[in-house]
Amino acid sequence: MEYTESKSGLNFSRMALGCMNLPVEDEIAAEEIIEYALSQHINFFDTADLYQFGRNEETVGKILKRYQSRYNLYVGTKVGNEFDRSLQQKTGWNPGRKYIKAEIKMSLRRLGMDHIDLYQLHGGTIEDDMDDTILAFEELKSEGLIRSYGISSIRPNVIDHYYRKSNMDTLMLQLNPLDNRPEEFLEALDGITILARGPVMQGLFTDCHEYHLKEKFPDGIFNYPQEELSRIFAMLARHHDDLTALSFKYLIDKGAVIVTGVSTLEQLEKNLESLKKAAAMDENEMKTAEKLFKKERYEVHRL
Ligand SMILES: NC(=O)c1ccc[n+]([C@@H]2O[C@H](COP(=O)([O-])OP(=O)(O)OC[C@H]3O[C@@H](n4cnc5c(N)ncnc54)[C@H](OP(=O)(O)O)[C@@H]3O)[C@@H](O)[C@H]2O)c1
Repeated sequence: MEYTESKSGLNFSRMALGCMNLPVEDEIAAEEIIEYALSQHINFFDTADLYQFGRNEETVGKILKRYQSRYNLYVGTKVGNEFDRSLQQKTGWNPGRKYIKAEIKMSLRRLGMDHIDLYQLHGGTIEDDMDDTILAFEELKSEGLIRSYGISSIRPNVIDHYYRKSNMDTLMLQLNPLDNRPEEFLEALDGITILARGPVMQGLFTDCHEYHLKEKFPDGIFNYPQEELSRIFAMLARHHDDLTALSFKYLIDKGAVIVTGVSTLEQLEKNLESLKKAAAMDENEMKTAEKLFKKERYEVHRL
């Protein structure tokens, strides 16, 4: 496993485990996935207070605690979405300092931990009082409750503000050869570790592309109708034996941390195999495949 170090010294494994789709209702299955990830040198686990309205943090925290003495691991979670656990509903957006400093105590309790390695703002708008949010993160850092902070955002104007005004370590956004919207500003984000979510575009860059396309993208994606995507992925599959490796090669070349999301152990096993193939892949193979996709840009929330 290759590693990449962030500004604050977190040494992220090239592949991280996104815990959003873990089967948290089946703790044994969830533990099998996490244990396998650790055994394969994955050291970063991404959750959020919102995932399953607190249950994801509880399950992931409980499992990881059993391995903390044996492995050097990092936990990342997110804040900003107010939710009602009993109603299982998101109820609002709150990036305020007071809210963040109260909510971290809830996340720490659910995780069963005394600090959070990476605390991320789970979204945000240009109308937020972003300097108040930054102050909250800076205070939590000096109090030793977090080691570093970052944002999860696909809004160029919000990203620009945090990049210029904060000491954020990481930016999480969806990134893969199809959703290549971030490309126009990635290189300018000097010193920021990119956490690439959606690395297989929810299953499109896998051998189950047709199934995931029909199930998850009935209206197509961006300006691609479903039929066009079906043709593109069928063509990719005719020329490449591993679509996941193609997307991972694209992300490795960008220096991103691949936050792989899985719901089964088999998917994680396959994705780790694809990571090995990606590391050995010829650059031209990926570049030729990449040309099948249009260059996208974020149409709203621009600078
Ligand atoms: N706003 C945010 O901050 C935000 C938003 C989204 C995600 N995230 C984070 O990023 C992580 C990854 O995001 P994502 O779940 O969108 O990423 P993804 O890796 O593109 O998609 C994950 C899904 O793709 C399918 N899949 C993965 N590997 C597969 C394989 N080898 N074969 C067949 N299908 C496969 C599975 O779908 P099925 O489960 O349907 O089989 C899996 O749940 C999340 O876990 C979460 O930690 C953050």
